[in-house]
Amino acid sequence: GGGAARLYEPMNRHTTFLIGGPAQYWVEPRTVEGFAEIVRYLRSQSVPIRVIGRGSNLLVKDGGIRGAVIHPAKGDFEEVRVEGQTLIVGVGARLKKIASAARNAGLGGFEWMEGVPGNLGGAIRMNAGAMGTETFDQIVSVRFIDTDGQIKEKPLAEIVHHYRNVPEFEERYIVSAVLKGSPAPQAEIDAKLAASHQKRRTSQPVGASAGCAFKNPEVCGAGKLIDELGLKGRSVGAAIVSDIHGNFIVNSGGATAREVLDLVAEIQEIAQRERGVQLEMEVKV
Ligand code: EPU
Repeated sequence: GGGAARLYEPMNRHTTFLIGGPAQYWVEPRTVEGFAEIVRYLRSQSVPIRVIGRGSNLLVKDGGIRGAVIHPAKGDFEEVRVEGQTLIVGVGARLKKIASAARNAGLGGFEWMEGVPGNLGGAIRMNAGAMGTETFDQIVSVRFIDTDGQIKEKPLAEIVHHYRNVPEFEERYIVSAVLKGSPAPQAEIDAKLAASHQKRRTSQPVGASAGCAFKNPEVCGAGKLIDELGLKGRSVGAAIVSDIHGNFIVNSGGATAREVLDLVAEIQEIAQRERGVQLEMEVKV
């Protein structure tokens, strides 16, 4: 698809955690058909496939990734097009860019995306959300490369989605989606954008992280729980529980995946012992 390919690409360059060993093959397709072609070829050779976008919710192990990592972020994949009250968005478009395109078109509902680092694909794959909204609140339909290598499209009603998990898109690779907004006064959109930006700036750390480490359990917020357990500031090597938000693990400089996973295990063990709460990781390993 006219894209680039490299061998042994260090993944710490492609994750917001700044952690991770090399990917055996690194591929950057530029077109939807190019992406599908690569997927069909890799499958025919039984090469394992992973797709990553902004790498903002990802912990890559120190030993790296065997097989191919596909990064659809340029060309077709970064497009954001407004059509009436909908946006047609490529899988690699940044959430921030979607929020600003919607604003310029006078469409509300996308303001929460302003405060979330990541591309559309990751947001759909995990049904990301913030400020009481989640990605699937706005999905009309999703185009993807199916397990047979063909490009297909499904409407919202046919896509099973949960809180922070959409199993459907584990082996099917999203290429674009149609999202719906609702017309709103510019001033109202701007106020919500500012609130979203402010929320992130004031309640979340700026250091290298993968966002929230754990899913919120039903009983209470994971961040609040970790805070109450007195675990802020706890560390393993260079991996530290943020002093600003308990659900963020920050790489304070040169942390390894091993250190992060050891810290995760310690937090899980303490939450289980002290509160009987099972914390499940939200970050993908
Ligand atoms: N709180 C504490 N101590 C902390 C952290 C939070 O007391 O260390 C309290 C806050 O004061 C607040 C409550 O807990 O009263 C909820 O905190 P917050 O508003 O930050 O929301 P959250 O449930 O902790 C969720 C998402 C975040 C998203 C925020 C903002 C999950 C796991 N987390 O956090 O998403 O940014 O809401 O809307 O659903 C992410 O997905 O990576 C992520 C960071």
